[in-house]
Amino acid sequence: MEYIRSKDIFFLMCDTLRLVDRRAMDHGSRVAYYLYKMLECKGGYEKFELADFVFMASLHDIGAYKTEDLNQLVQYECKETTPHATYGYLVFKYLSPLSELASVILYHHMDYLQMEGLDYEYKEIAAYLNLAEKVDIYSEALGDKFDMAMFEKQVGTVISKEALVLISEAIKKYDILRKVKKDKYKEELEDIIGYMLFSNEDKKKFLQMLMFCQGFKSETSVVDTVTCLCIAEIMGQKVGLGTLEKEQLYYGALLHDIGMLAMPKEIIDAPRSLTPEEYTQIKTHVHMAEKVLKDRMDEEVVAIVAAHHERCDGSGYPRGLREIQMNSRQEILQLADTVTALLGQRAYRPVLEKAQIQKLLRKDAAEGKYSRAMVKLFLDYYEDIIMKVNARVEEIMFTYRKLNQQYAQVLGKLK
Ligand SMILES: [Fe+2]
Ligand SMILES: [Fe+2]
Ligand SMILES: [Fe+2]
Repeated sequence: MEYIRSKDIFFLMCDTLRLVDRRAMDHGSRVAYYLYKMLECKGGYEKFELADFVFMASLHDIGAYKTEDLNQLVQYECKETTPHATYGYLVFKYLSPLSELASVILYHHMDYLQMEGLDYEYKEIAAYLNLAEKVDIYSEALGDKFDMAMFEKQVGTVISKEALVLISEAIKKYDILRKVKKDKYKEELEDIIGYMLFSNEDKKKFLQMLMFCQGFKSETSVVDTVTCLCIAEIMGQKVGLGTLEKEQLYYGALLHDIGMLAMPKEIIDAPRSLTPEEYTQIKTHVHMAEKVLKDRMDEEVVAIVAAHHERCDGSGYPRGLREIQMNSRQEILQLADTVTALLGQRAYRPVLEKAQIQKLLRKDAAEGKYSRAMVKLFLDYYEDIIMKVNARVEEIMFTYRKLNQQYAQVLGKLK
């Protein structure tokens, strides 16, 4: 079954990153548009290849979401460029199905003189992206004073001659600077995105990558989501869900907290209980997730995400649904999310013992917060489930941890 179309993977990813910072994502879209039109001028590319380049270029600064203060665009784009280029490269290399384009991201700030000596299939794309990026930064900063002539002195040293020829041609032929200024480029970008063609496996990997993006705000939330996903998967098997329902539960659990990317970092990892105002704000993460997923992801999956903080007695949020209005997949995710919170280490309380967790769950079930049958099943198989979950979490986190270790090593060398 197709849970999401290829082009919607792209829009979902961009809109989720927009929740973190709209300006950084808009910069990515403009740069992708410039690159796309440069490649059109060059010719010889298939539409689906152009679509892949547009995907990568839109996310060329994805590393900055993790490594930088996004208010300091000039600092990370013009001065300290290595951290975000490196992290973005690692994200694409390890987490995306477009790993062959990862090095374009790594090299996107490299001077042409250095790049020329590289033995890399897509080095000319990196050189074009390098100029597309500069054109966007300088044209945004200088407004009407921006003049392409400013790049001429840098040809052959900082920028590639071919890149300058292509972008000059694109400006003349497609009027790209004016279209961007008037915000009239998005339709063309959307047209080419329509040629994206990903297999179901690739889509699954992209959605996992999207989940790992939660780590841009909070590492704890990645471990929590993976733990919740594993508990939900095992509970789904124990309850005897069919293949289709199991898959819906998988995607619902995978994406249930992506709305947290819209929340301020200080609140997500606050080493204390939240104030009433903060709690009200945190609750909006469900609506944020629904907003980006709606009309893109399968509606059953969206309904699972939307109900992950609902409770069987009607005390949950955002809709105050009751047991009769919910299905077993939604109830499994609610329980899995709560168990994850109970199992996790929190700065404001010590780790809970098994007996404490079991007591709390029994109490909540007795009060009618969770499906009694679901809680009973979980408690009956507690040891078995926790053991399997721990093993599976380690498996899923392996690549992500490797990525972060490699980044820490590079950062260590830079200091
Ligand atoms: Fe950039
Ligand atoms: Fe950059
Ligand atoms: Fe949540």
